[in-house]
Amino acid sequence: MRLHIKKVLMKHLLTVLFSLLITTSVYAVDEERLIQESQLAIKSFAGQLKSELMAGMQKGGPLHAMTVCHDLAEDIARDHSQKLGWEISRTSLKPRNTKNSPDSWEAAVLNTFEQRKAAGEPIDNIDHAEINSINGESQFRYMKAIPTQPLCLSCHGDNIAADVSEKIDHLYPNDKARGFKLGDIRGAFSIKRTIE
Ligand code: HEC
Repeated sequence: MRLHIKKVLMKHLLTVLFSLLITTSVYAVDEERLIQESQLAIKSFAGQLKSELMAGMQKGGPLHAMTVCHDLAEDIARDHSQKLGWEISRTSLKPRNTKNSPDSWEAAVLNTFEQRKAAGEPIDNIDHAEINSINGESQFRYMKAIPTQPLCLSCHGDNIAADVSEKIDHLYPNDKARGFKLGDIRGAFSIKRTIE
């Protein structure tokens, strides 16, 4: 009799362990796929932003490119989001456009990015993925750090030309995105996606 109970218990325990194993591995595979899709989407989003920026710089230097960024950045993010069916955006602890201010989750992740950079991790490797349950819905969130490159300094660095600076003041009276140095984390791409 006691042996029988033990056997039944063992069977239950094994079933529970086995199903746990399956759910965690399915979850892991799924998260891996979501991360890969996010990285591809970011590549395309970043590529389009950069080519518009470069075209603007070539046409009329940073002053003209400022207008391009101002007019196009939001549209490019919106087009990508609509095409993907999820939200893709850029954010920063020191945003230029207040519409790009981080939500509390993004701000917390950006703070851990700063800590990871301070601990010596290369910015290109810094990212973070999470699956959260919100009101019974699963939500995948992903962020990837953006490094400050030489090209960025004419609009986000210490020595911004007077006319460009004036334009920034005019278009973004609450701008915080100045004073960045080469190799600083300028911000991050952020993805929010509901999972069926
Ligand atoms: C010609 C000026 C200019 C240059 C060069 C430039 N930016 Fe910006 N950047 C802007 C403007 C203007 C905005 C605000 C866009 C908007 O209204 O959403 C912005 C916004 C951003 C944002 C979104 C968060 C925020 O601050 O609002 C990030 C991230 C960013 N830039 C990163 C970069 C990086 C990285 C580079 C270099 C590869 C770069 N920028 C080069 C003008 C520039």
